[in-house]
Amino acid sequence: MAQHPVVPMATTLDAGPAAVDFSGGARSEAPELVLVLDFGSQTAQLIARRVREQNVFCQLVRPDLSAERIRKLAPRGLILSGGPASVYDKGAPLPDPRIFDLGIPILGICYGMQAICRALGNEVSPGAHREFGRTSCRVLADGDLFDRVPGELTVWMSHGDQVKGLSEQWVPLASTGDCPAAAVKHRTRAIYGLQFHPEVTHTQCGGTLLGNFVKSICGCRGTWKMSSFIEQQVTGLRERVGNKRVICGLSGGVDSSVVAALLFKAIGKQLSCIFVNNGLLRAGEAESVRRSFGDHFRTDLHVVDAREQFLSELKGIVDPQQKRKTIGRVFIEVFQAEARSIPDAEFLAQGTLYPDVIESGASVDGPAATIKHHHNVGGLPDKLGFQLIEPLRDLFKDEVRTLGHELGLPDEMIWRHPFPGPGLAVRCLGEVRPERLEVLRKADEIVLDELRKAGLYRKVQQAFAVLLPVQSVGVMGDFRTYDDVVAVRAIQTEDFMTADWYPLSCDVLQSISTRITNSVRGVNRVVYDISSKPPSTIEWE
Ligand code: XMP
Repeated sequence: MAQHPVVPMATTLDAGPAAVDFSGGARSEAPELVLVLDFGSQTAQLIARRVREQNVFCQLVRPDLSAERIRKLAPRGLILSGGPASVYDKGAPLPDPRIFDLGIPILGICYGMQAICRALGNEVSPGAHREFGRTSCRVLADGDLFDRVPGELTVWMSHGDQVKGLSEQWVPLASTGDCPAAAVKHRTRAIYGLQFHPEVTHTQCGGTLLGNFVKSICGCRGTWKMSSFIEQQVTGLRERVGNKRVICGLSGGVDSSVVAALLFKAIGKQLSCIFVNNGLLRAGEAESVRRSFGDHFRTDLHVVDAREQFLSELKGIVDPQQKRKTIGRVFIEVFQAEARSIPDAEFLAQGTLYPDVIESGASVDGPAATIKHHHNVGGLPDKLGFQLIEPLRDLFKDEVRTLGHELGLPDEMIWRHPFPGPGLAVRCLGEVRPERLEVLRKADEIVLDELRKAGLYRKVQQAFAVLLPVQSVGVMGDFRTYDDVVAVRAIQTEDFMTADWYPLSCDVLQSISTRITNSVRGVNRVVYDISSKPPSTIEWE
């Protein structure tokens, strides 16, 4: 993946200095930026999200980013995240000690607080107990970081070490039973520490605390908003693309749809969208893409009907990996052939999101560790010979939805559940044949329809039907049947890395089961999947 410097989003498009503006018009002012030095905490991304909720742009950077580089980026504040290490571990990541002399307000969270306190003359050592989970916290000093926060609050702790001997230079702001210095402040400098995690929702008033830091202490006004993001991107995209053509692959999902809508706003007729119908789509999917991008946005939409090609290549394959590989290969072939037929195309737009950028360690100043391995089936290789455009690479998923809404995409597209690149093939266990896909498609449509009717579609993050490769005995009227089994899956998750099965009510399960067995020919049994991830995965293959 291409590397990008950590600078406010418009410059990732090389749009020039004029584009770096989130002030909604006051072009001479520097953008309000807060940086999170990421020490590896699971919740570091959440800090950035919470800060953005204050309408202040925030990015994660590597923990040892030099003071010099930070000064050049001119952030209004620095937040040092938590992390799994102990400050005493050999090789534990530490900030550049010169950051404390930059005059930029600093907030350390958990490990970040310990790193600050240790660097500035306090004692950090293992606590009597490791503290995990909810704890009651007493505020010792009103106002300042704790402005508009009650005197007693529930906070979320997750630490072994803690700051013990506070030097004269420091004041405790809050304490818990096990941790006398649960929040601290430097006497003369705008440097703060929180032993607990304000970014997680379990901490009461966590958003207020972070808001106090970025607004009152760092002096941010909170001018970052989606409409200014759109304006910036539109200007940047026009400058970068010039009079060339951009290709955008549509999957029907929210990310690629938002990319296409944004590009359409920026360059209109210079955008060509490619949608590959691989025969493995859910009911109504191809029509929905055609309605939005052909009829509504009137883009140059290329719908490639490759159903036969995919299905003939999948004939006889039952191994899940083999299915995925085949689908991935054919997709690239089909997409490439269509893209080549579009003259003047110089750019390829992709819906890469900020979590992908962080987790792949692709940002120059981002954390180095690759945390997540992405499935890339149904995606495109980096080297297709086009220049890449990734206008969403600074946004979180919920921000992409807001953007989609502002760009006028229909709700059904914005809130669509994720759908894997290999599509129904990985939910059609055993051989993928047209008639089996039809059974699955009908059953899946019923599952989603019943969830919508019950008002549950947005409460679960993903739901679908799976066609199993087994038959079971049933009875219909006076006849014995030996028919297919459909499994229903509905999950709740924050990040799709772990997931819980959703406790659908008996009524909803019953409606799903009755409708499937009554109206989908060839299915006589419906079962509900009650497995979490781990040990299961969300998909069955
Ligand atoms: P698993 O099954 O690994 O899925 O728990 C986690 C999330 O990833 C989606 N998924 C895919 N997405 N191409 C994709 O674009 C794929 O090959 C793929 N496989 C799984 C899955 O639907 C879930 O949201």
